Amino acid sequence: MKKHLVVGITGGIASYKALDVISRFKKLGFIFNVIMTENACKFVTPLSFQTISGNYVITDMFSESKSWEVEHIELSKKADAFLIVPATANFIGKVASGIADDMLTTAVMAAKCPIILVPSMNTNMYENKIVQNNLNTLRGYGMEVIEPEEGLLACGDHGKGKLPEPADIVNMTLEILNSKNTLQDMTGKKVLITAGPTIEAIDPVRYITNHSSGKMGYALAEAACRRGAEVVLVSGPVNLSCAEDIKKVDIRSTDDMYEAVNHYFEWADVIIKAAAPSDFRPAIFQNSKIKKNGSTVNIELTQNPDILMELGQKKSGKILVGFAAETDHVIEHAKEKILKKNLDFIVANNVKESGAGFKGDTNIIKIIESNGNITQYDIKSKTEVADIILDKVKEYTIE
Ligand code: PMT
Repeated sequence: MKKHLVVGITGGIASYKALDVISRFKKLGFIFNVIMTENACKFVTPLSFQTISGNYVITDMFSESKSWEVEHIELSKKADAFLIVPATANFIGKVASGIADDMLTTAVMAAKCPIILVPSMNTNMYENKIVQNNLNTLRGYGMEVIEPEEGLLACGDHGKGKLPEPADIVNMTLEILNSKNTLQDMTGKKVLITAGPTIEAIDPVRYITNHSSGKMGYALAEAACRRGAEVVLVSGPVNLSCAEDIKKVDIRSTDDMYEAVNHYFEWADVIIKAAAPSDFRPAIFQNSKIKKNGSTVNIELTQNPDILMELGQKKSGKILVGFAAETDHVIEHAKEKILKKNLDFIVANNVKESGAGFKGDTNIIKIIESNGNITQYDIKSKTEVADIILDKVKEYTIE
């Protein structure tokens, strides 16, 4: 999801924390423009924000524009939301009084998207009736205010005015944007996702499984839910939890997964199979623990159903996405799977590559489409990868 955030930085001691806020949003796939006031530049350098946001930083209303467009108007049109962090008493007062005398205040004045202010200042200033009246005025104009926290302030005073922790600012901002449906570009979609390994019992104490942690599938489920989709997550045994809004169906074996996926198949518009179901299971389950007898034990394996291939045969108008966990000839094998399983696209990862595949928090993927298009991505967090996959799903969605 490429959501566009304009982050305004005003001149407070907490300005440096905005770097962490931006970095966290970036991991969620947001893109940025940063506007700094003249005073903000005295606390932190535009170069730091340029580096972290990956985009040039606007500091001066009258500097030469990077394009022919009227910059502050264009930014206000492009933005999905404005986040002002920290918002000083001066900035709050100016906007509440309708003053637009620099790039940030003019851009805010032109914005029609949600505007979220994160005030931070000395307690006495924050509690001052003028500041409180100004904040109420801005709330009345539809702006959102993330309240500062209580604590030891930079000036040595103790009280309300401290900027919340960056992780909390990100969570509260997402909550606000979700409540306004700003980020919910998958509202109305029904998405079935599989995650994790399956386990195939040999006897009451032993089983066959693989290295899947479920992180890739859970990241997809969380992202789809955050984007407004109704999500069913069919999950093998993993140590992960998910948002309450996601309907989780726990399974153990590939046969269980087969049953659960088929149960929800008709309901789903989109099916993404990120799980690593075991291809084989012991031909016979031994009711009692197999005893050592000093020689080799042979366990005959039989093949499990290929769930995705069967879904492909009855796909009709649904969007069907597979993963390909490969160790060599990644593209060739992935292309074979697209055809064999009748997929719209496949997400290939080389599980031998460092930073890709099982267990870690990152993945390195190639998206191969049924029309032959191949897009290769650098190493990214599984959260970012999830949004890339959902963005691709959206390209296939017939509204
Ligand atoms: O869980 P993590 O630790 O985060 O690791 C992520 C991952 C490596 C498991 C994930 O990125 C991944 O590659 N998942 C697919 C694993 C796999 O089974 O790949 P495959 O190439 O063997 O299978 C191809 C496709 O068929 C997959 O979508 C798979 O879910 C599906 N399949 C496979 C076997 C089977 N019996 N039924 C299936 O539906």
